[in-house]
Amino acid sequence: MPDHAIFITFGTRPEAIKMAPVVLELRRRGVFRVITCVTGQHREMLDQVVKAFALPVDHDLKIMRERQSLGHITSAVLNGIDPILEAEKPDLLMVHGDTTTTFAAALAAYYRMIPVAHVEAGLRTDNVYSPFPEEMNRRLADRLASVYYPPTQKARAALLREGARPESVLVTGNTVIDALLMTASTNAPDWEPKVARALKRPGPKVLVTVHRRESWGMPMERVAHAIKQVCAQMPKATFIFPIHLNPVVRVTFRGALDAVDQVVFTEPLPYLPFVHLMKTVDVVITDSGGIQEEAPTLGKPVLVMRDTTERPEGIDAGTARLVGTDSDLIARELLLLLNDQAAYERMANAVNPYGDGQAAGRIADHLEHRFGLRAHPPGDFQDS
Ligand code: UD1
Ligand code: UDP
Repeated sequence: MPDHAIFITFGTRPEAIKMAPVVLELRRRGVFRVITCVTGQHREMLDQVVKAFALPVDHDLKIMRERQSLGHITSAVLNGIDPILEAEKPDLLMVHGDTTTTFAAALAAYYRMIPVAHVEAGLRTDNVYSPFPEEMNRRLADRLASVYYPPTQKARAALLREGARPESVLVTGNTVIDALLMTASTNAPDWEPKVARALKRPGPKVLVTVHRRESWGMPMERVAHAIKQVCAQMPKATFIFPIHLNPVVRVTFRGALDAVDQVVFTEPLPYLPFVHLMKTVDVVITDSGGIQEEAPTLGKPVLVMRDTTERPEGIDAGTARLVGTDSDLIARELLLLLNDQAAYERMANAVNPYGDGQAAGRIADHLEHRFGLRAHPPGDFQDS
């Protein structure tokens, strides 16, 4: 039986995708006792990922409620996880990213004086309300943590500026690239019938995802309007929109776009078909954090429908463009990409600013070093 226990917590779809390579790598090595605890902040969308990666789940807090509040998520995670921490007595708790699960689980560990390791630490915008509440969740998780796995050198620099000790920080690359590379190299799936029909249509294909809290209401209405504008001007374009299960998102977009036959809604897709869909379409328009990181690796232009991004590397590399939620601007930039081959080629560069697929291995090496089980710490991922 290993001497040290690592307790890994996640609750939403993106955390599960990004933690999967770490859970699998630590389990494969067998050096630590690995305990997984899902909060169930998401249900169906989390379960899709647990199934896709065959992740072991030791504890499930099952906290999700319909249209849940941030207060509910925070208190349900704190109350749910504490007795499990008391029983399991882990040597370290690991969280990922910027969700309310991340923050609340880190706080619960702090209350029990359990050290916290934060994967995807150090990403920052300079606005605590954008993305909301993720910017504050990530900053608070970083305050509570004492071991940091930032994906890029920029994120490392932010942590050091805020007082993290250099020896507690390892630049790993983003674990999402590990997950993506594992998945993109598999055979294309049997598409579900709706997607198969959409892909058979002539003309360009645009993949859409939108879900962020700060975009609820008018910003989402404007995104829907932009899609309508492009449909009117480009009758051959098809939009494939795997729509988030949040009812707030569904009401807005289904209401605005159900009658537009160039828009094909699907349920959230399992990770494997989603990755293959990203490879297949021409352009991605999204407010997702994870998709901003994946698309550059696949050489797909991304229009980021947010006012700020904590992921400037894709913008700097030229694969992503920040377009906000102004209808005219989104429509203009999308039409440019769909009509102008040279503009398209300029953005369609396969670059890897976010990782090289080795992040989970670096994290496992670093943990082994931290617990005195490995002589040398691993080297950083060099993204710039
Ligand atoms: C959450 C995270 C966000 C992350 C996103 C990824 C917070 C505050 N938000 O936002 O950072 O980018 O996940 O998708 O941590 N629902 C279901 N089934 C599911 C998932 C959601 O029905 O599998 C519905 C429920 O009604 C739920 C609602 O969606 O109450 C909102 O879920 P929530 O996790 O609060 O917010 P997200 O927008 O998903
Ligand atoms: N994704 C998926 N199926 C979908 C839409 C997205 O598997 O139908 C994946 C996507 O590849 C990425 C992650 O989910 O890895 C992004 O999740 P989301 O946009 O919900 O959250 P964010 O990254 O914005 O926190």
